[in-house]
Amino acid sequence: MKLEGKVALVTGGTSGIGGASARLFAEEGAAVIAVARNEKRGKEFESACREKGLNVSFLPCDVTDREQITEAHKKIHKEFGYVDILMNSAGILRTGGLKEITDEDWDAVYQANLKSVLYICQEFIDELIDRKGVILNNASINGLQRYIKGAKSYMYATSKAALIQFTQYLAKNYAPDVRVNCLCPGMTETNLFTNRDFSRFKGCNLLDRMAKPEEIAKVALFLVSEDSSFMTGSVIVADGGETLK
Ligand SMILES: NC(=O)c1ccc[n+]([C@@H]2O[C@H](COP(=O)([O-])OP(=O)(O)OC[C@H]3O[C@@H](n4cnc5c(N)ncnc54)[C@H](OP(=O)(O)O)[C@@H]3O)[C@@H](O)[C@H]2O)c1
Repeated sequence: MKLEGKVALVTGGTSGIGGASARLFAEEGAAVIAVARNEKRGKEFESACREKGLNVSFLPCDVTDREQITEAHKKIHKEFGYVDILMNSAGILRTGGLKEITDEDWDAVYQANLKSVLYICQEFIDELIDRKGVILNNASINGLQRYIKGAKSYMYATSKAALIQFTQYLAKNYAPDVRVNCLCPGMTETNLFTNRDFSRFKGCNLLDRMAKPEEIAKVALFLVSEDSSFMTGSVIVADGGETLK
């Protein structure tokens, strides 16, 4: 039980990497608050976790909306008291060639993938300092410098590159009280992709398959637990060797 007695807030915690992490954190003893917008999916996720005896609570909140985050914080404060672990996993993928990108697409991607993290960190940083907590931001290998793949990834890749830098600024400014790390997964089988034909990614990495969300969640667990007690400001790649191909 690596997270016994901890309270973990996972944005995007009802699906994909965030969902698998929320489940795993609860299996390791944490009380988990899973935040997302879709209430039907959120409630189903919560019920499925509770049926397995896991302490997971769904909290509806659009993380691109500062007021909703403040409201969510009030509810969390009332019900759980504090947060020890913050995993920012909410995110969206939109692609487009240079001349296809609209203001709406650009803003939506940056709001969901980057500004949401600003809002949440502003809201929770004081109690994370008090609790000697941890932050884990879920970026992507697409955000790594010198990894330029996918001709239409302007919005997604640049938002994730900014998230990596943002993580490192947080790590620098809030050490030694709060450890802040960044996870960079490669291709993972989740609802992020509207095109479900994953055969197009065949041969994309050295392991010749996509990751399961549960495999990435294990890395997330390492980064939010005491197992990574000497790590802050780290950018951890879990990509089946994709960046070497
Ligand atoms: N899948 C990959 O190959 C891959 C690779 C590298 C990095 N990542 C990153 O991993 C993170 C999780 O993605 P995923 O692949 O697990 O996709 P996913 O299954 O689509 O999960 C995304 C989660 O984010 C939530 N979300 C999106 N916008 C939100 C908002 N405005 N407010 C609150 N919640 C919001 C979604 O729930 P609602 O729609 O209900 O709000 C959902 O729970 C993303 O940041 C993504 O960029 C994914």
